[in-house]
Amino acid sequence: MERVLITGGAGFIGSNLAKKLIAQFEIVVVDDLSMGSKENLPLSENLTFIEEDISEKSVVEALFSTYTFHYIYHLAAIASVADSVKYPKETHKVNMETTLLLLEAARTQQKNLKRIIFASSAAVYGDEPALPKHETSTIQPLTPYAIDKFSSENYILAYQKLFAMPTVAVRFFNVYGNNQNPSSPYSGVISLLVSALQQKNPATNKPFTIFGDGNQTRDFVFIEDVLQALQIVATKNEALGRVFNVGTGIRTSLHDIIRIGERISHTKLVLHYKPARAGDIKDSCADITALKTLGYRPQFTILNGLEKYWQFVTT
Ligand code: NAD
Ligand code: UD1
Repeated sequence: MERVLITGGAGFIGSNLAKKLIAQFEIVVVDDLSMGSKENLPLSENLTFIEEDISEKSVVEALFSTYTFHYIYHLAAIASVADSVKYPKETHKVNMETTLLLLEAARTQQKNLKRIIFASSAAVYGDEPALPKHETSTIQPLTPYAIDKFSSENYILAYQKLFAMPTVAVRFFNVYGNNQNPSSPYSGVISLLVSALQQKNPATNKPFTIFGDGNQTRDFVFIEDVLQALQIVATKNEALGRVFNVGTGIRTSLHDIIRIGERISHTKLVLHYKPARAGDIKDSCADITALKTLGYRPQFTILNGLEKYWQFVTT
């Protein structure tokens, strides 16, 4: 059986990936549980969970001398943009230096690799207003998080050119779905919305806060479409050494997702408006032509994606 490493595999995207791959691969998850949770992971003798900080050189070296990997999904990151602004040095260690650490260690210690996949972000495009964002659109990273993602991407792609390593990067837009952690005020807005809708009587609970006028738009992409994208970049040779947007190509406003969420859950939220967050972008949307040419076909609209997410959290 081939072996897969998922860094950050106890988190939202990583745990869904582990669930999908478990039937086919032996899986090793390394996660320090700073944001993820062991309960997200499937129980299986094919899955080994290692609670460690992947930004430590000794951890990576021990891991690579113990296991031979065929696929590495590097998803571990401090995914909160706000934290990166507050603690740039600490987040830089995880969000950028760890990418280089893994690349160097893999170059010298892993000889059977078929793919290293790096999770970048639409945040690299910044707030330049032209839409949709093509992979060649202006890059304007505005936060330490985005700078680190862009820098990591460049290392990932350079290692393919310099050392013929089988690397690829994906720029996720706004991913939502099962296992997304709503515990921080900076968690993904759909996880916060679903958590608010689950309250028995929203009228007596805290109102749902909208930062800005609620008309901001995002390309919300359901986790299952993200898994489809990851499978494509992990298997198609044309993907090597390239970066791909992962979204749906459709943008939806915050007001619209709230309306849809209320309809699905038969709940009415009390909305509270606050000024837009500093650095918040108004609109975001992916051009997904590049990934489509490799066969990607997003299957979920915001309506059926939210329905499926709602079913998951309520049953
Ligand atoms: P997440 O926070 O749920 O998962 C990240 C995981 O990494 C967590 O389980 C956390 O505990 C772990 N982690 C953090 N620092 C670590 C360390 N030093 N050592 C080991 N584990 C560590 O986030 P997610 O939404 O699943 O995101 C996965 C990746 O995709 C991240 O790199 C994120 O930046 C990127 N991304 C996500 C989105 C999105 O919409 N969810 C959008 C763009 C990019
Ligand atoms: C998200 C990701 C970021 C990623 C980027 C890529 C998260 C937490 N952030 O940032 O890692 O790089 O997409 O596109 O997944 N909002 C409210 N009320 C709330 C929470 C948010 O009004 O309670 C607003 C925000 O101000 C923003 C919008 O909802 O305008 C979306 O916010 P969020 O889900 O945090 O996503 P991004 O900021 O786009």
